[in-house]
Formats: sequence, structure tokens, C-alpha cells
Amino acid sequence: MTGSLLVDNIGELVTNVAGEGEGGPLGIRHHAAVLVEAGRVAWIGPTRYAPAADRRIDAEGAAVLPGFVDSHAHLVFAGDRAAEFAARMSGQPYTGGGIRTTVGATRAASDDELRATVRRLRVEAMRQGTTTIEIKSGYGLTVADEARSLRIATEFTDETTFLGAHVVPAEYADRPDDYVGMVCGPMLAAAAPYARWIDVFCERGAFDVDHARAILACGQAVGLGVRLHANQLGPGPGVQLGVELGAASVDHCTHLTDADIEALASTATEDGGTATVATLLPGAEFSTRSPYPDARRLLDAGVTVALATDCNPGSSYTSSMPFCIALAVCEMRMTPAEAVWAATAGGAAALRRDDLGRLRPGAPADLMILDAPSHLHLAYRPGVPLIRQVLHNGVPQCR
Ligand code: NIG
Ligand code: FE
Repeated sequence: MTGSLLVDNIGELVTNVAGEGEGGPLGIRHHAAVLVEAGRVAWIGPTRYAPAADRRIDAEGAAVLPGFVDSHAHLVFAGDRAAEFAARMSGQPYTGGGIRTTVGATRAASDDELRATVRRLRVEAMRQGTTTIEIKSGYGLTVADEARSLRIATEFTDETTFLGAHVVPAEYADRPDDYVGMVCGPMLAAAAPYARWIDVFCERGAFDVDHARAILACGQAVGLGVRLHANQLGPGPGVQLGVELGAASVDHCTHLTDADIEALASTATEDGGTATVATLLPGAEFSTRSPYPDARRLLDAGVTVALATDCNPGSSYTSSMPFCIALAVCEMRMTPAEAVWAATAGGAAALRRDDLGRLRPGAPADLMILDAPSHLHLAYRPGVPLIRQVLHNGVPQCR
């Protein structure tokens, strides 16, 4: 679509540009308009001073926010684990053991079947305001299946993550060192051309700290950025390993010690945040009936917090960032403003993307118009489809 587009009559515009209007970090402007040209924000100002444009969307007094940046999702898989979910709701614990079930189904699926699942979930997420999504591999766990998972992921996002170290697959169960060698050797070589990031599930029952360090270091050596699944099922060394390696994000952070929080806080930067972000995934705690991470403790220590869905068929089969915001506010003591920031600018920080998560001239025109007058309604009205319209790179998306 060419030509300029004006979104005007915005009742509440969340820019995430601190100091812009009200609301502290949310940078809220009232009675605002946004001009979009060539897919980017060209101008922001009061509706009454808005320039003419080729097309116009009247926001009718509603709230407009930056698109959500979902920085943690596992969309390349086949099958589902509804029966495992039902068993869990009858009292079975979540252990991550079901990952191997999805690995079997994923290996058996065709490229087109995998692609169709990613497309379905991508559309689902977009309808709920997600304009950027990170997509991990991790259900292939062979050289060919990890490479094809990432190749398919690149059809949908630039933010792709190699998670060959999700679990040790059954055929390597009694020789995990050999599997780690394979991940660092031929699997990484095949996956790296399609990946921006490397991730490891550093947890009892998955990869220990020495294996995780070795794998992440190999990824760094070929230019991949580091992120980690850490401290999800119990306390452990994952968060501090992430800090040691300069990870962009440590994800889950459900079980944190004071030393973990101090390590994260020690990565403080001049802009007032931390270089290593704590990405919280409350959909996983919700769907596994686990205690939620202590977001307040992280925020009070000055740690940058992101919220993401962890969308996957096992622990968190939701693509909904609004749902995660509602959980963060109502169950994790985040304020609505903190949760909205964490789901937008926080996700961008977790992906080290300065260009995303904020609405300002020059930024991609990734935004959503709510069917509500304020960002507060995202948590206040849980489960209600409040996303009226989404623009991605200035282009209106399917409703
Ligand atoms: O982030 N914890 C590891 N990986 C996923 C779960 C994957 C699965 O259960 O299939 C997570 O929760
Ligand atoms: Fe995950």
C-alpha cells in the first residue's frame, strides 16, 4: 500500500517515549494523531494540527499503543498436547518431559504442515496486537529438522532462535556429551545461517550449566546472540550464566535467589535499564499451575522486565499478549503501565531492538488501535478481544 496514512482522533496514545506527555515511561499523549509514510511513523502531534494524508483512520477517541513485541515463542511444531494438559489439570506435574512427544510429531511432519502451524499462530498473534514475534526451533533436534525449523521460521520473522539444546532427544539419552558435541558442531553449522540467537534450556532434566555454557559459547563464536531458558522449574545457575555471557535475556525467572537478582541488576546501563532483561512468561505458570515469578522484586531492583507468551504446545499454548498482561497485573503485582511497557518496549529490549516498541518519527509504524479508551483496559477487561485494528509497517492487518 502506498501513500500516506493518518490515524487521528486518538484519545490516548502510548508512545513509550519517556518524557513525552504523561505516564512516565509510557509517554502518553491525549487527542493525538500519527502520520504514517512509507511504513514508518512520519509525524506525531495533536489531532488538530495533523497534516493531510492520502488515507485516514479515525480512532474515534480510542487508545493506540505500539504493537506488542513477543520475544519468546516456540511456533514450529506439529500436533498438540491437550491430553497432557488435561492430565496436569488432574494433578500431574509439568516436567518438560512432554517435549519429546512434540519432537516426534514435528520430525514426522512435512514442511508445509509446519509452515501452516506457524502461519496460523502468527495470524492469531497479529490479531491480538503482536507485530514482532521471536520464533525458536527446538522440536526437531536433528541437524536437518533444526535447520528446516529455522528456515521456516525465517519466512515469518527476523527474530529466529536456535534451540537445538531444548532437551536431549531419546536417541542420545545415555550419551548427552555426544549430543552436545553434535549441537555445537554440525547442527549449529546448519542452523546458524537461519538464526539470530542461540538459546539453551538450562534446567535439571535438560542441560546443566557446563553444557549450557559450552553450547552458548559456540553460538557466540559464530555471531549468534545469547538468550536462555533459566530458573523455570527450580532454582539453578541459568540466570547467572546468562549474565556471565552477556545474554540479551534470561527467560522464565520463576525461581530467583537474591544473588540472581543482584547479578541481573549488575548489568545496569546508562539508560536506566539492564543489559540483560528478565523475560517473564506468565502463560507458562498459568498453564502449569506453578507459582508466578516475583516481578516486583525484579522491578524494584531496577531490572528491565519483558513479558512474552512462551507460546508452545506444552507449557503455554497461548499467543495472547493481552492475556499475559492481565496475568502480570492481577497475579504478579505489576502495574498496568509496567505490564504494557514490558510487553512492548520490554520485549524490544529483550531482542536488543532500538527501533521497536516505541512510537516516534522514524520508527516502523507498528501499532494497534484498541476498542477501549485506555491501555488500562488490557488488564481490566481480561479475555475480551479489545484489539480493533493492527498496523504492521504501516499496513492494516487482517482483523
Ligand atoms: O519454555 N521449558 C522449556 N521449553 C518450553 C516448554 C516446551 C514444551 O513443554 O513443549 C517452555 O516452557
Ligand atoms: Fe520457552
